[in-house]
Amino acid sequence: VNTFLQVLFSSPFKAFRNFKFIMQVGIGIIGCGLIGETHAECLDQLGNPPILFFDQDDKRSSQLAKKYAGTSAKTLNEVLDSLEVHAVYICTHHETHAPIAISAARHKKHLFLEKPMALTEKECFDIVQAVQQAGVMCMSGFKLRYYPLVAKMKTLVQQPLILNGQILDSRWPDDSWANDPVKGGGNVLSQGCHAIDLLCWLANSKPVRVYGEARNLRHPSLDIVDSLAATISFESGAVASLTIADTGEFPLISKFSFEAADNQTTLHLHNRLKSLYINSAGNITHEHTEEEQGFLEENREFLTALRDKRQPLSNELDGLHATMILLRAIEASRSGIAQSLEDLP
Ligand SMILES: NC(=O)c1ccc[n+]([C@@H]2O[C@H](COP(=O)([O-])OP(=O)(O)OC[C@H]3O[C@@H](n4cnc5c(N)ncnc54)[C@H](O)[C@@H]3O)[C@@H](O)[C@H]2O)c1
Repeated sequence: VNTFLQVLFSSPFKAFRNFKFIMQVGIGIIGCGLIGETHAECLDQLGNPPILFFDQDDKRSSQLAKKYAGTSAKTLNEVLDSLEVHAVYICTHHETHAPIAISAARHKKHLFLEKPMALTEKECFDIVQAVQQAGVMCMSGFKLRYYPLVAKMKTLVQQPLILNGQILDSRWPDDSWANDPVKGGGNVLSQGCHAIDLLCWLANSKPVRVYGEARNLRHPSLDIVDSLAATISFESGAVASLTIADTGEFPLISKFSFEAADNQTTLHLHNRLKSLYINSAGNITHEHTEEEQGFLEENREFLTALRDKRQPLSNELDGLHATMILLRAIEASRSGIAQSLEDLP
């Protein structure tokens, strides 16, 4: 046994182990609930399981650490100070995104930041500033971009004139953390950024103005916005309409529905983004995929971008835009005045 250990730790083998270490990205998961575990599972499937786990609920981090043969950290700083951790996933409740992301960036950790970026414009700008000052990469968790039929949609209509987006979910429980005005902010801020990000990405143009009508239709006891109908204008002249609420799923199209049209082609993506109808100059075809692979593919993109030292498909500015457009749509409803987006970086 001694001889074996001597050989293993001899210089040539050490170099080999270090080489392997460079190929692996050391990842820490912060927030080991539903989505922390989802990302850990994807990273494991991609051959790069996380190595360090932290949750304010010690039981949760210990459970995930055990499942993925990693280590459970006792404090956030244990993750941020670890030299083996190159990147952290921030999968906590929304009011903690800004302080954790800013601290992680200052510790020179690359970030995978779940949506929404934060709950206020100031927090979003502070995150972007911390990320850019530290020179780290920050990927925003917009998994819808990674569905194959979304990519197909973007290829078929590259410069849409008109877009529709809808995320209508079944009613979120009053006592869920996401409906807590401080921790979550309600479904519009939480899942609405997926819709805004997708519309902006498909529009392929800078958003310039937003108007919205925001309501609380289903949760009168909570100080949140739970429903929003909005319009976004783009520099290209395109216009998008958007509906987000937890009033219930529509039977034919499911929770997600997105449409895009130019002069020749109209597209409708629905059935959880697994069915795409294409009307190309009157010729209607249909494409279907079996599985939803958004989470897996966004994790692949994060690892690849880190290894290639490049920007990911959705970065900190995409995270900033999605949350700011939502906040300004809500402000437009309050003031009755359409809000400019010309100042978005
Ligand atoms: N991309 C998607 O499709 C998608 C879907 C659902 C949720 N999310 C996002 O993922 C994030 C987490 O949501 P979830 O559903 O996993 O919630 P969750 O409640 O299941 O898990 C969150 C975890 O964070 C922990 N936590 C809270 N504050 C903390 C802190 N300061 N330090 C350490 N741990 C802390 C909690 O104890 C909990 O275990 C949110 O931003 C949410 O919007 C994304």
